[in-house]
Amino acid sequence: MKITRNDPCWCGSGKKYKKCHEAFDNKYYTLAKKGYPMIDFELIKTPKEIEKIKESCAINIAVLDYVAKNIKEGVSTEDIDRWVYEETTRLGGVPAPLGYEGFPKSVCTSINDVVCHGIPNEKEILKNGDMINVDVSTIYNGYFSDSSRTFVIGETSKENQKLLDTLRYAIKEATKQVKPWTPIGNMGSTVNNIARNAGYKVVEDIGGHGIGLEFHEEPWVSYVSKENTGVILVPGMIFTIEPMINMGSGDIVTSEEDGWTVRTKDHLPSVQEEIMVLVTETGNEVICW
Ligand code: MF3
Ligand code: CO
Repeated sequence: MKITRNDPCWCGSGKKYKKCHEAFDNKYYTLAKKGYPMIDFELIKTPKEIEKIKESCAINIAVLDYVAKNIKEGVSTEDIDRWVYEETTRLGGVPAPLGYEGFPKSVCTSINDVVCHGIPNEKEILKNGDMINVDVSTIYNGYFSDSSRTFVIGETSKENQKLLDTLRYAIKEATKQVKPWTPIGNMGSTVNNIARNAGYKVVEDIGGHGIGLEFHEEPWVSYVSKENTGVILVPGMIFTIEPMINMGSGDIVTSEEDGWTVRTKDHLPSVQEEIMVLVTETGNEVICW
């Protein structure tokens, strides 16, 4: 049955359709008819779903805050895994990585030349100058969140620090490109331009993702995209910005030993941080970091 203008909106806001998503639907279907790539309607989050996802994000942020407070030289990545498991469950959540496609731990810990998906273990001890990415993901009441931060242990080299500063600047500028009814490629091309201008390479083969009702949803998100390409962002979309930027070449190798750990081929450092962005009516909101 077709919704009429005075019916309650399909999104569950309680408002009349004409005062809520009517204009949105018209825009969405006009662009879809013109052939623009749009994400599936089911992946657009309702206000209630957004609230639930933000609750999951609150746990994810608290867990990363706990790691930030305790991480230091001499700690093992196994210690970090234990902290993440204990804090997440204490707050009522479930670590999303644990058992995900066979991943054996609660968190990914990726040091220096490890690009992503490093597996915590007791033999790996943090030392002065290391750059470690801690990638935390939470399931809370069935809703998913995912964000990561890179920590510098003690003091690192000038070269390493510049790589990390560039990554953070790239994410900040790319986030400004997240606006409704514009193509997602403007965000990714911003990351790529900033990284390249600084003499670095963005990893091409691993990207970000939509998130919320699942760990990894459409769209797959590139950080080497071209301007004016890719899916059209619409209010209620949630996805990650999580570029990996390499000091040397962009080539990467996945460990044959454990099937997970991704390293740079040249063993030069790689850095990553991850945030979750919600597309709003006027721009965006960073809901997890
Ligand atoms: N947290 C990663 C991401 O950003 C996913 C890791 S999958 C895992 O998408 F199994 F390794 F945890
Ligand atoms: Co992610």
